[in-house]
Amino acid sequence: MVIYQKTLYFILVLCYNYCRLILLVGGKRGQLEKLEKFIINGGKRLNGSVKISGAKNAAVAIIPAAILAEEPCVLENLPMIDDVSIDLKILKEMGADVKMLNSDTIRIDPRHINDAVVPYEMARSMRASYYFLGTLLSKFNHAKVSMPGGCDLGDRPIDQHLKCFKALGANYTIEHGIVDISAENLVGTQIYFDKVSVGATINAMLAAVKANGLTILENAAKEPHVVDLANFLNSMGADIMGAGTDVIKIRGVKRLGGAHYSIIPDQIEAGTYMVAAAATKGDVTVMGVIPKHLEYITSKLRKIGATVTENDDSIQVIGSDSPYERINIKTMPHPGFPTDMQPQFAAMLTMAKGTSIITEGVFDNRFRYVDELRRMGADISVDGKVAVIEGVSKLTGAPVKAADLRAGAALVIAGLSTLGVTEIEDIKHIERGYEKMVEKLSLLGADIVKRTYPDAEPMRKAL
Ligand code: EPZ
Repeated sequence: MVIYQKTLYFILVLCYNYCRLILLVGGKRGQLEKLEKFIINGGKRLNGSVKISGAKNAAVAIIPAAILAEEPCVLENLPMIDDVSIDLKILKEMGADVKMLNSDTIRIDPRHINDAVVPYEMARSMRASYYFLGTLLSKFNHAKVSMPGGCDLGDRPIDQHLKCFKALGANYTIEHGIVDISAENLVGTQIYFDKVSVGATINAMLAAVKANGLTILENAAKEPHVVDLANFLNSMGADIMGAGTDVIKIRGVKRLGGAHYSIIPDQIEAGTYMVAAAATKGDVTVMGVIPKHLEYITSKLRKIGATVTENDDSIQVIGSDSPYERINIKTMPHPGFPTDMQPQFAAMLTMAKGTSIITEGVFDNRFRYVDELRRMGADISVDGKVAVIEGVSKLTGAPVKAADLRAGAALVIAGLSTLGVTEIEDIKHIERGYEKMVEKLSLLGADIVKRTYPDAEPMRKAL
């Protein structure tokens, strides 16, 4: 009887999509939007090992920073994700020579960049475009960059970035959505961040690295990608001390040379696969990681009842067949529990025993995935920055939408750990930050495919 019900459900989902497709084609003939989805047939344990790519949030800071070099730079272990390709397109638009040396290695020759303006649409399509403000200000004493885009996580001002630039001697206007900033010259100073901000800390380093004299950043962010950028800049000849602590000292230098640098592994990508392993009761080893960057994830997974083994550069996660224990999570700036792992844990906790509480301590609204998990049967209530999750015995597959990058990752985890078909729309958010997610999950035994419509071919085959 169950097989019959599942087959009927599967046919109904296909018919529903087929009808939507017909309406889409009929309604918008000639101007069809490409509709892409992940289709997950869940309930399978993930098993095996997965190589973790370079860190997105390090790459999107280090690529703009290469502009400051007066010789070519070679960057290794770059994740080939949409945000990185946009960054590289911006560099090419500005006159840099960008060459792919192999699948994850790029050579950037910035010597022919002579324009301090970043193309508007490219800049507004991502959050990290604001790093061009700090780099171009440093290189040309001028920068024109659109206000950033990126994941909608509530209010995301850039006042701390602008405060740093002003403190270093720059003036700016914001008109028509563009930040136009310039300085006679940049002079080192003492800056205290009113709020711990990864972006503002990174932008301040970029703007101060060639300023006259000493800049001291206090209440600075300590994320691994902040340290990675400081290490990259120092390999070019910068003089930065204290990155990774809340006081960073930057002594301005006259010249930055080229560098050959390898980006750190992505601790959020690694954490996502670790949670997926636990959620599907599988046995997965994430390879090429820095376990220290994952300490919080490891401890929380152990606390709910998964088995986690740390090795030099890999971590094995073995899920438990019994329901997980409930836990409380409060996201904080590093070294606290990373906000970028909050949605993924929430997806897993929807099926834990008892009541889990998640407090989002960094962003105003990072619960936009909750409505979509409710479609799958989750019992979650949200009040401001607190989500209360009542564990249920199981979820059911459903058509859902990714609201942002990590919300999408949470839906993938929910779909993988749920019997039935889950279709995820708006996967562009996911592909911005996860390299080859379908390939990596398929190698671990997941039944996941990417479908592009109106290519109804697969539908007809299925029908
Ligand atoms: C970076 O965003 C990351 N993005 C985010 O990752 C990450 O969630 C976040 O840091 C925190 O770790 C990139 O690195 C490209 P913040 P960022 O400045 O720099 C407020 C992902 O999923 N704030 O540390 O924008 C801000 O509104 C993405 O990979 C100000 O008030 O984060 C937020 O509440 C999502 N004024 C808090 O500080 C400012 O000038 C932390 O923001 C700047 C920030």
